[in-house]
Amino acid sequence: MATLELDGIKKKYGELEVVEGLDLSVEEGSFTVFVGPSGCGKSTLLRMIAGLEEITAGELRIDGERMNDATPVERGVSMVFQNYALYPHMSVEKNIAFGLKMLGLPRDDIKRRVAAAAETLQIGALLKRRPSQLSGGQRQRVAIGRAIVREPRLFLFDEPLSNLDAELRVTMRVELAKLHRQIGATMIYVTHDQTEALTLADKIVVLRDGAIEQAGTPMELYLDPANAFVAGFIGSPQMNFLPVTTTGTDAGLRLSSAELYALNVVPDGAGWGADMTLDLGIRPEHLQVGEDLPVRFDINVDVVENLGGTRYVYGSTASGKSVIAETRADAIPRAGDKVTVGFDPVRARYFNANGQRLRHKLAA
Ligand SMILES: Nc1ncnc2c1ncn2[C@@H]1O[C@H](COP(=O)(O)OP(=O)(O)OP(=O)(O)O)[C@@H](O)[C@H]1O
Ligand SMILES: [Mg+2]
Repeated sequence: MATLELDGIKKKYGELEVVEGLDLSVEEGSFTVFVGPSGCGKSTLLRMIAGLEEITAGELRIDGERMNDATPVERGVSMVFQNYALYPHMSVEKNIAFGLKMLGLPRDDIKRRVAAAAETLQIGALLKRRPSQLSGGQRQRVAIGRAIVREPRLFLFDEPLSNLDAELRVTMRVELAKLHRQIGATMIYVTHDQTEALTLADKIVVLRDGAIEQAGTPMELYLDPANAFVAGFIGSPQMNFLPVTTTGTDAGLRLSSAELYALNVVPDGAGWGADMTLDLGIRPEHLQVGEDLPVRFDINVDVVENLGGTRYVYGSTASGKSVIAETRADAIPRAGDKVTVGFDPVRARYFNANGQRLRHKLAA
């Protein structure tokens, strides 16, 4: 177990700055997930932490000690890659033991650690097989086994489940959560998958263009996003954004749009004013089909996605704005129907033209 601190970490490839002075602290034993669009620097950051990529500027500390120039072994980190990188000509057992052999550990020690890892990962029966004789999920376990036996202070995972089919991803996701609980190690995990991020993380770090947009618990990011980017990135299907204009004074503003008739808000913080155009953000799960919610408007239904327990209704408002609403009712709207959707203003979030969050109190 270890703590990790990044202090003004930068990465440049020639003139191209791909990580821009990033600060982050990772608590001992925690599960931290990096998310962000393709090319935002997730792998680069992970590789810098692992010691596989030089750090251009800033300081990286593990357990309080500067580690910028230390080797991966000195850092006590192990990394699991997306493509597993197993040796095809070696048995599972040898693949798992390989790193320990290179470190010159005594034979008995290696045996004991491999056996323990095999038990944890339930691959004891596969030890004599070669990687080509394994399923994707089994290969993934071997790759994780190889990381575990080193007993690292810090585990790094770069999209370890992305080559698996949907069902296996779910199984392995649960396995990883169990593994984290069982061995209590500090883990940092990169993923594109919303569900993985929300279910596994103690802390999610949302990256964009080499900088942190927001870091917090899954619920902090979901309920209290710092900006429209985070609000749109976390949650699936994506949050709806409706343009609204403001009238009134700072003490009490009215928001209106083609869809919404005079919704009152009381600003709580800077940035608000009259005659502004803002985005009202409302998540699909908070925009419900039905007549019984305080703020309502009509949509024309374009497509309905029925997921069994719930359904997402993709529609357009009178002004042609696309929105997604949810219904759990058994009566499923059809394409072409006109339905009323509504939300509780408690659920709305507001963002200015630059995407910055504007905070509000609920009007009495
Ligand atoms: N060796 C390199 N030389 C120059 N630029 C690089 C190099 N490696 C990565 N980059 C650039 O750095 C940026 C970050 O890359 P990185 O691999 O960290 O992205 P990522 O967030 O992991 O993306 P993905 O989700 O697609 O894996 C990208 O713009 C990439 O093109
Ligand atoms: Mg990557």
